[in-house]
Amino acid sequence: MDVLEAIKKRRSIRSYLDTPVEQEKIDQILEAARLSPSAVNFQPWAFIVVKDPACKERLRSAYSRSWFAKAPVIIVTCATPDKAWKRSDGEEFWKIDAAIAHQNLILEATALGLGTCWIGAFDEAKAKEALGIPANVRVVAMTPLGYAAEHPTQASDRKSTEEIVHHDKWQNA
Ligand SMILES: Cc1cc2nc3c(=O)[nH]c(=O)nc-3n(C[C@H](O)[C@H](O)[C@H](O)COP(=O)(O)O)c2cc1C
Repeated sequence: MDVLEAIKKRRSIRSYLDTPVEQEKIDQILEAARLSPSAVNFQPWAFIVVKDPACKERLRSAYSRSWFAKAPVIIVTCATPDKAWKRSDGEEFWKIDAAIAHQNLILEATALGLGTCWIGAFDEAKAKEALGIPANVRVVAMTPLGYAAEHPTQASDRKSTEEIVHHDKWQNA
């Protein structure tokens, strides 16, 4: 599957089968994250693969939708700001680095026939408490990972190319 095909195929999946995810596929998904680019190649990320039912249940305190913890795996993408590049104007890159890695793992999961859903609306303090994440580490994103029990057929709405692309300079509408 080429990259654009995976980008087109990926949808947010909010219903999962109990079928376990093969360890080989989890390893491949983590490899996609590991190989991601990052500012100055600082790689400030870490990934928590949550499979244990008790840990998944604890994580529900941070994001309580019923479908979330039903997936056989949850991947939690973290970043350590102290280990990330900071531009001279103070702009921090840890969130961007971790987001790139998270999207790469999501696309690899799609290519392997697995469902995911980027989760951002979680309670970070509760997620950190649930998984014993140190104070200096931030939780950037999570995703359930598993075989989809739903197959969205309606196209996901996107703005048109004309609405989002400028040529040569910013053009006011
Ligand atoms: C940064 C980010 C945060 C998101 N947070 C959530 C979330 O907390 N819960 C959820 O159900 N979906 C979440 N989504 C999924 C979006 O709702 C979804 O990507 C969007 O509606 C487009 O649908 P599609 O993914 O099926 O193409 C998030 C997506 C992104 C990129």
